Amino acid sequence: MTSASKSLTAETLIVQEVAPRDGLQIEPVFVPTEAKIALVDALSAAGFTRIEVSSFVSPKAVPALRDAAEVFAGIARRPGTVYVALVPNLKGAERALAAGADEINLVMSASETHNRANMGMSCEASLEAFGHMVAAARGTRATINATIATAFGCPFEGPQAVEKVEALVARYGDLGVDGVTLADTTGMANPRQVADLVRRTLARVPAERLTLHVHNTRGAGIANVLAAHGAGARRFDAALGGLGGCPFAPGATGNVCTEDLVSLCHEMGLETGLDLAALIGLARGLPALVGHEVPGQVAKAGRPCDLHPAPARKAA
Ligand code: COA
Ligand code: ZN
Repeated sequence: MTSASKSLTAETLIVQEVAPRDGLQIEPVFVPTEAKIALVDALSAAGFTRIEVSSFVSPKAVPALRDAAEVFAGIARRPGTVYVALVPNLKGAERALAAGADEINLVMSASETHNRANMGMSCEASLEAFGHMVAAARGTRATINATIATAFGCPFEGPQAVEKVEALVARYGDLGVDGVTLADTTGMANPRQVADLVRRTLARVPAERLTLHVHNTRGAGIANVLAAHGAGARRFDAALGGLGGCPFAPGATGNVCTEDLVSLCHEMGLETGLDLAALIGLARGLPALVGHEVPGQVAKAGRPCDLHPAPARKAA
């Protein structure tokens, strides 16, 4: 994979917002289409340059996202923002391209067992389908990203050999995809492991084309993001409120929380280009949308700069 023209500095951290897809796919409630469209539009207004809008998967597998085409048709596209669709097979790719997705995100797992649970097929069958999906997207204006789920560990099989993940990255390169995502589907990764795999992957995939997809299932989400950033990764998936999780991975919980990550980045002097106050406002509206409290912490605590009045001193 050749380097994209845009250069990223060590002071940059790009967040791709995935709440409309990863966040909502696991929710038992069906969030109405208009509310999904309003959420994506608000995320565009908050400054995201990349938003994963929905997935074109079987509506039986993920009923919560059965309205993907309507959501794509209804959103107001901000110039410069890439609107991404996750796709599992050729049918999904064709539906996403017809809906006008700017990028399709092909997904398979490093783990054979998780791929069968999630995608109903073997890893080799997924790779074969990828070939057809890439062919379908070439000649359209859409770019192609490909994700390796369970890259840092599988809830059924346990650790995944780093060589297996590297071989998949190489296969993705042979297929001619534009970008690669390494996903820690159920938060099994640790910062040293993440830094090692990021360094190895950057030998093949330039930072402009690499995304880390981190779940906070065991509380290590932000630590893993910072380790990856320190190793040279620059683009990260995150979900507003810390929503998210794979419905086909036992014990899956939310992505690393967007506003928590952005708050920490800004405190550290890392640029995200995002409006943190707007993100907090949106995150505070999520419980009404999904019907329960959400894990994110900064929306509850406020920004570090949101100070409290000093307590009145009691008279002696
Ligand atoms: N979009 C819409 N419908 C689809 C579809 C797609 N991308 N792919 C398959 N279908 C439909 C088929 O048309 C068929 O419909 P029918 O029963 O009305 O005839 C039905 O789904 C079964 O199709 P089949 O090819 O046998 O698929 P399957 O049942 O083996 O499921 C997947 C395979 C990949 C479609 C399914 O496992 C899936 O959607 N997985 C995604 C899971 C996910 O989103 N995980 C979280 C994100 S990583
Ligand atoms: Zn995920």
